Amino acid sequence: MEISGANAIFVGGASGMCRATAEQFVEKGGNVIILDLEKSNGAEVASELGGSFLPCNVMDYDGMATVIDEAVDKLGSVQFSVNTAGGGVAQRTVQKDGTRHSLDDFRRIIDLNLIASFNINGLIAEHMIKNDPNDVGERGVMINTASIAAFEGQIGQVAYTAAKGGIAAMTLTMARDLGTHGIRCMTIAPSLFDTGLTAGIPEQGALNLTKDAAFPKRMGMPHEYATMAIAIYECAMMNGSTVRVDAGQRFAPR
Ligand SMILES: NC(=O)c1ccc[n+]([C@@H]2O[C@H](COP(=O)([O-])OP(=O)(O)OC[C@H]3O[C@@H](n4cnc5c(N)ncnc54)[C@H](O)[C@@H]3O)[C@@H](O)[C@H]2O)c1
Repeated sequence: MEISGANAIFVGGASGMCRATAEQFVEKGGNVIILDLEKSNGAEVASELGGSFLPCNVMDYDGMATVIDEAVDKLGSVQFSVNTAGGGVAQRTVQKDGTRHSLDDFRRIIDLNLIASFNINGLIAEHMIKNDPNDVGERGVMINTASIAAFEGQIGQVAYTAAKGGIAAMTLTMARDLGTHGIRCMTIAPSLFDTGLTAGIPEQGALNLTKDAAFPKRMGMPHEYATMAIAIYECAMMNGSTVRVDAGQRFAPR
């Protein structure tokens, strides 16, 4: 897909990996809309990028339909979407004191990561199918964000692992569902990245969490996620997979 002149929606685009992807998309001549929480600095980021900001909460599933309609209305059409809104909770299946994992917390993490991603994908695909195909039949590309915890979750990450594992698992099926429309669907699974989400992790903690990487043994940088996301958008053969961006890291149990 050609970026110059294309339109994109970045959910979670006020910060971190999604913001970096929006920046690279604009550098290559694309137009962007930033969707993020009202309290975020999405308006400031959008204005720096020459785009618009629409506040949203991805867990307000009906509200997201209105926000995405409005975003596409402003852009005219949408060819690319990236979603990084998500997060986890630290709780074991059964805690050391014998208390079970809260079912409400488990469900909330599934809702925030998996259900919200699926909802956004469907809402955006409804618009993408109306695009005129490019000369190789493509109408759009959607990228979701998992984590390497989808494959080797650490102790206390059971809800997060289930949610991110669901995102990874639905990727191929969604790509197959949407293939007839010329829409590609991919997932990126990062290791530990230096973003707003991880800003509170002390340096020693970050070193510990990246010590098992092959190379480089450090946190990833948002622009490294963005480089992968842009490559996925540009390469028509990238479809139906979850790509690890992890410096060869495999999470240990803790
Ligand atoms: N940073 C990491 O180490 C890392 C590693 C693996 C996976 N991830 C995944 O990446 C995503 C986080 O991205 P990041 O690391 O760039 O963090 P970030 O905090 O810098 O950016 C995430 C953005 O999503 C927005 N957001 C959060 N909840 C939202 C909601 N309910 N509705 C709308 N917007 C919401 C935030 O306001 C923020 O601007 C999550 O899905 C997380 O699970 C992060």
